[in-house]
Amino acid sequence: MAELKAEDMQDIQGFVISGYAHLPCVSYLLLGISDPPSARGWLARLVNEVTTSEGKELISCLNVALTHRGLRRMGLDEETLDTFSRPFVEGMATQHRSRILGDGTENGPTNWDWGGNLTSEPAKPDETKAVDILLLLFGRDETTLDKLVNEHRARLAQCGLTLVLPLGAGRQPDIHEHFGFADGMGQPAIEGTIQTRDAAPRNVIKTGEILLGYVNDYGKLADSPTLRADLDPQDVLHDQPPVDPTEQARPSGASPPVMRDLGRNGTYLVFRQLAQHVAKFCHYLDEATRTLDEELDSTASDRLAAKFVGRWQNGAPLVLSPDTDDPALSKEDDFGYRDSDAHGFKCPIGSHVRRSNPRDSIGPDAAKALATANRHRILRRGRSYGVRPEDRRVDDGVPRGLHFLCLNADIERQFEFVQQTWINNPVFGGLDGEVDPLVGNLTKGDEIFTVQADPLRTRVHNLERFVTVKGGAYFFLPSLRALRYLASL
Ligand code: HEM
Repeated sequence: MAELKAEDMQDIQGFVISGYAHLPCVSYLLLGISDPPSARGWLARLVNEVTTSEGKELISCLNVALTHRGLRRMGLDEETLDTFSRPFVEGMATQHRSRILGDGTENGPTNWDWGGNLTSEPAKPDETKAVDILLLLFGRDETTLDKLVNEHRARLAQCGLTLVLPLGAGRQPDIHEHFGFADGMGQPAIEGTIQTRDAAPRNVIKTGEILLGYVNDYGKLADSPTLRADLDPQDVLHDQPPVDPTEQARPSGASPPVMRDLGRNGTYLVFRQLAQHVAKFCHYLDEATRTLDEELDSTASDRLAAKFVGRWQNGAPLVLSPDTDDPALSKEDDFGYRDSDAHGFKCPIGSHVRRSNPRDSIGPDAAKALATANRHRILRRGRSYGVRPEDRRVDDGVPRGLHFLCLNADIERQFEFVQQTWINNPVFGGLDGEVDPLVGNLTKGDEIFTVQADPLRTRVHNLERFVTVKGGAYFFLPSLRALRYLASL
């Protein structure tokens, strides 16, 4: 596919194309709408400050997303609200979605610090936890970010907005998450964007896998929310494209289509606040790898941790470097499992990276397996929060974890599928009775992890919950045009 046009790059929020790795300081402001007309005025001014995908902002960036409830409060009509995808309409915290995501017991929405944007449940949403808007602020240093956050916080009250919760990420010393592993290397690249420049062909996905209004991997236009043309009298939005994307453009003078595309150049943003229990993680690994003399064995402990993840601490994929953490491979993302490691002897079948993206391993042949796996890719945009512990084995009581953010065009087929059918699946890839050792929803009987080996596999038992869900919501990250439309309501 050709490069996306300049006018589209100006319309797409910058967060789609870049995770802003050059801006280490981040704050996520979770907002509620108290006075819709004032909030629309706020949005109208904010649009001019939103970072687009055109060029690179070196000092600070700002992006904005809304929940379904937030769109309703902004004044979007019910008919249009119904055209959004079902998981987004329902919200992450409904019982139905909780079942899909495995958010039971302590991970359940009733225990969350925020989220709970219930819309279709009979239960009333908890107003103190419900979120309408997510404002993403990034700065090159603490001073820049503090200034930006203070400016925006100062505006809220007179703009009909309330601050539900400010979530800071805090500057991290490097790209390692709190369990100690380099993160962010395994990513898809969106066709038609600069992301494909350094990407292996196997990781390039159709534009419509992330951006609404474009052709996806099925050769169809990614399902996008639409509205009647008479609801857009100022012609802010694009026409809804024909059902068949190969159909010719309308000849001039032909009667206009009746629908406008509210989703084009936008995407869905999944946000999960995942607390990490670092000392518990380290102690588990230490105890599980004690020698026959009951001595600690740090090499075996590090190795088991790498088997959990599927990459070594500095990033080298186990499938390419099964015995050592090879620094030359730390950013490597061009690999499969099928030819060199069909049985998981190098990278365990149930490891986090192999579950969350099995690449070419599950299917009748490598090409079909890869094509299938690539229909479930997500573009991760998370950041660690909380200070890194001085000693990972000491529980200092400081809250820390991962603000897991990812982008996808189809929440059900992408994020939820990864979570339900791969991460939390006890029979994934022929396994029996185990889930993802890092983030899986452990239920009774699933607390094991198998390290395949020849001649004998090993197994660790009594896995504990190393990650707890603290909050979450599904957001729509609109295009600039769509933001202008919302502001004009
Ligand atoms: C606290 C929670 C989590 C931690 C600490 C964590 C950690 C990691 C690490 C260290 C990697 C390897 C580095 C890389 O490939 O970029 C990774 C990869 C990945 N993770 Fe997670 N992760 C967490 C939660 C999740 C969740 C909830 C999902 C999805 C539902 C997920 C999906 C992925 C995917 C898709 C990859 C890339 C796999 C690949 O393409 O090879 N992660 N994660």
